[in-house]
Amino acid sequence: MTQDDMKKEAARAALEFVRAGTVIGVGTGSTANHFIDLLPTVRGRVDAAVASSEASAARLKERGIDVVELNQAGTLSVYVDGADEATRNLALIKGGGGALTREKIVAAASHTFVCIADERKLVDVLGRFPLPLEVIPMARSYVAREIVALGGEPVLRQGFTTDNGNMILDVHGLTILEPARLEETLDHIAGVVTNGLFARRGADVLLVGTASGVRRIDRAGV
Ligand code: 5RP
Repeated sequence: MTQDDMKKEAARAALEFVRAGTVIGVGTGSTANHFIDLLPTVRGRVDAAVASSEASAARLKERGIDVVELNQAGTLSVYVDGADEATRNLALIKGGGGALTREKIVAAASHTFVCIADERKLVDVLGRFPLPLEVIPMARSYVAREIVALGGEPVLRQGFTTDNGNMILDVHGLTILEPARLEETLDHIAGVVTNGLFARRGADVLLVGTASGVRRIDRAGV
């Protein structure tokens, strides 16, 4: 089974979280794309979707799913999205596709966040994948200096502008032992719009595609 097959099986398993007559949130990336491609199989249950990126909105529309603005949708029943890294405590690094700000907003506005991933994304400690920060352009150098002071190595994502018109700094060299704490610290740096740690509001359910099937990990107490 390929990594892509595992992503697809995790995406398929997320369909059971789509409840009839609700508006759902849909993420960004290759795993989320599998979920979008499978949505027509449950079209009768999906009233509409809120997308975390322009790319996902376009793909949803191509598949015949109505796309609405979050401001019109209210609280979403479920948000389904991938991740770059995930721990068994359901803390995540996201933003490899650069959509982290809208992803964090849609996750926050959803009752249940279902993260879908292949087994290579499951890690003991976050940080091997460079942590993305969305940064206001005029703050780029300032934020980079603050990151160096925190022990990280910021690298500007070349030729990339977010859907919000900002830049991405990918931070290498971090070993993230306290993700919720680092998430809060990074959020307090002036000029950082969003950081790619999803720990204070991590996933509620993680569906991991493996060679022997999809493994489900629930947030303790859910
Ligand atoms: C986009 C994301 C994606 O969920 C993350 O990069 C995983 O991507 P993929 O499903 O292609 O492996 O956070 O901003």
